[in-house]
Amino acid sequence: MNIIFLGPPGAGKGTQAQKICAALKIPQISTGDILRRAMKEGTETGLKAKSFIDLGQLVPDDVIIDIVKERLAMDDCKNGYILDGFPRTVPQAEALDTFATIDSVIDLEVDDQVLVDRLSGRRVCVKCGATYHLSMLNGAVSCTVCGEELIQRNDDKAETVLNRLKVYHAQTAPLIGYYEKKGLLHKVDGAQGLDNTYQAILKTLGAQA
Ligand code: AP5
Ligand code: MG
Repeated sequence: MNIIFLGPPGAGKGTQAQKICAALKIPQISTGDILRRAMKEGTETGLKAKSFIDLGQLVPDDVIIDIVKERLAMDDCKNGYILDGFPRTVPQAEALDTFATIDSVIDLEVDDQVLVDRLSGRRVCVKCGATYHLSMLNGAVSCTVCGEELIQRNDDKAETVLNRLKVYHAQTAPLIGYYEKKGLLHKVDGAQGLDNTYQAILKTLGAQA
């Protein structure tokens, strides 16, 4: 099954995609993770992306479309995948239609107020990328999966978070209508607890785990 996870920054796309991908044994394709890796490695794409990401803006469509097209052509995508963070603009969705067939779009719905709290409290592992919220950590400063240091993402600083939300409403939210018209959109309440959200997504996909 080829699935898109849509939703604002902090809606839980990454958290839920990781769990659903493990359950369905399909890869999670997070354009945010791909770009952060490229920035860490200092590649040309990474350097180009950094100036946009640090301001909470989207990287240009042509950069990201090529990356996703190449990634979806890889062998491990043959039995399906979850796109986490792509498409994010109507031109990206139109481009995707030319090289992929999407079966389902899950739109995680969460209010802006909750998103700001989630993002400002998010901490991620520098090594394995596991995601936490300060409220879950009880003062712990290292990753419970691999023991490495937890850091705050650069774009989770307060002023950048507000900009990312603005960008989401202006450029990404129109995709809700785009996929609704195609009959592919499924809204899921992302403000529930982690497990309830996970179960709701599985049920929507008609999958079992
Ligand atoms: P990206 O990394 O995709 O960031 P994002 O869309 O802003 O989404 P996040 O990763 O911030 O949120 P999420 O929905 O994954 O939430 P998470 O599960 O972590 O992109 C970063 C940047 O890269 C973009 O701003 C852009 O510049 C660029 N980019 C990427 N893709 C692009 C594209 N296609 N085109 C152009 N540019 C692109 O959860 C958040 C927090 O909430 C965590 O702390 C988590 O523990 C907590 N949480 C999650 N679920 C729950 C729950 N149910 N209850 C309580 N807490 C919860
Ligand atoms: Mg994410």
